[in-house]
Amino acid sequence: MNENCFDTPATLKNSVHDIRKDFPILNTQVNGKNLVYFDNGASSQKPQAVIDSISNYYSTMHANIHRGVHTLSQRATQAYEDARVAVQTYFNAAHSEEIIITRGTTEAINLVAHSFVKKGDEVLISGMEHHSNIVPWQLAEVNLKVVKVKDNGELDMDDFKSKLSANTKLVAITHVSNTLGTINPVEEIIALAHQLGVKVLLDGAQAVPHIKVDVQKLDCDFYAFSAHKMYGPTGIGALYGKKDLLNAMPPYQGGGDMIKQVTFEKTTYNDLPHKFEAGTPAISEGIAFGAAISYLNGIDWTWAAQHEHELLAYATEEIKKIEGVKIIGEAVHKAGVLSFVIEGVHHYDLGTLLDQMGIAIRTGHHCTEPLMQRFGITGTARASFAIYNTKEEVQIFIDALKRAIKMLK
Ligand SMILES: Cc1ncc(COP(=O)(O)O)c(C=O)c1O
Repeated sequence: MNENCFDTPATLKNSVHDIRKDFPILNTQVNGKNLVYFDNGASSQKPQAVIDSISNYYSTMHANIHRGVHTLSQRATQAYEDARVAVQTYFNAAHSEEIIITRGTTEAINLVAHSFVKKGDEVLISGMEHHSNIVPWQLAEVNLKVVKVKDNGELDMDDFKSKLSANTKLVAITHVSNTLGTINPVEEIIALAHQLGVKVLLDGAQAVPHIKVDVQKLDCDFYAFSAHKMYGPTGIGALYGKKDLLNAMPPYQGGGDMIKQVTFEKTTYNDLPHKFEAGTPAISEGIAFGAAISYLNGIDWTWAAQHEHELLAYATEEIKKIEGVKIIGEAVHKAGVLSFVIEGVHHYDLGTLLDQMGIAIRTGHHCTEPLMQRFGITGTARASFAIYNTKEEVQIFIDALKRAIKMLK
């Protein structure tokens, strides 16, 4: 693989109509209607460059990576490691070995829960966490403390300050809530935690599609994310961790690649990042993750942030005009997520009817059951936006919503 494989294009894309051309699935018809895909929070669609990367990998270079002496293995290894460097550069990590390739956010958090904390340690999470940032800590049998969520969906920072102490081993909080859209004040959280010597893990699953994250600027200790929510393939993601912390942590899983030497008496472990990457990884997905990063490098992020902000603002304004609709999550700082409930209408029925009209939204508890309990609801309907969505699609969604409500009430 040559050094240009994850090049940044000379001009940045800042037109939704140009961007839409990169995503072939957007031309799909669903139930006889043009697809309106508003389930990006669950998983975003893929640009042609990512699809081609997977096909190209299997057509031209597939072999198992690391330690292979033959050409294909070396090519595949180079491409895989190039992708790691592309991720490192994109997130501005200081070292490529600080990027541990995982199956996604879930595995990244499980890694930290397994290797960084021990039974009885105090871990501070929030009431808006995804199950992936709750259950791993319960499995690790830590002493879990939970920061309250305010009625408008913002984190209760007074409660955070009262629960944070020098006894806290780790703060593990979502950067952006998948259900509420809330962008948490992570800079303040990190500063407060670090004043007390407490480490911070951010669940970046929902932040990375919307925010250009710089891990050194944030100064977080760990950052977990999934490729499939940022226009990359499924089954791959990463844990960013500061090198000194990762070096001090024991391996998460045992197997090939993570060792230096094995005897029946004793095993010595490989260096970072391989110490945490046991077994044959998702090679094609890893390389295609690099292609997704390359695609994102070609996007004008100032434009993208403004575009998504406009979509959210327009959808919010229009949905508020519909009688009986209540938005769940009205934080001042929000990413492109609109969760709502409708009086007298079950979210599941709504989702099913909208699907008949070609519109994909998500319904249910969004893997945030404690948050649903906090708001006294069983679930919400959630529209979540991506860079390829348009204002026209929002209008189609709003019109369809009005029709669906009439039919269901
Ligand atoms: C906030 C948040 N954290 C974690 C996850 C888990 O991500 P994955 O299933 O890709 O590991 C999700 C997925 O929806 C999420 O929204």
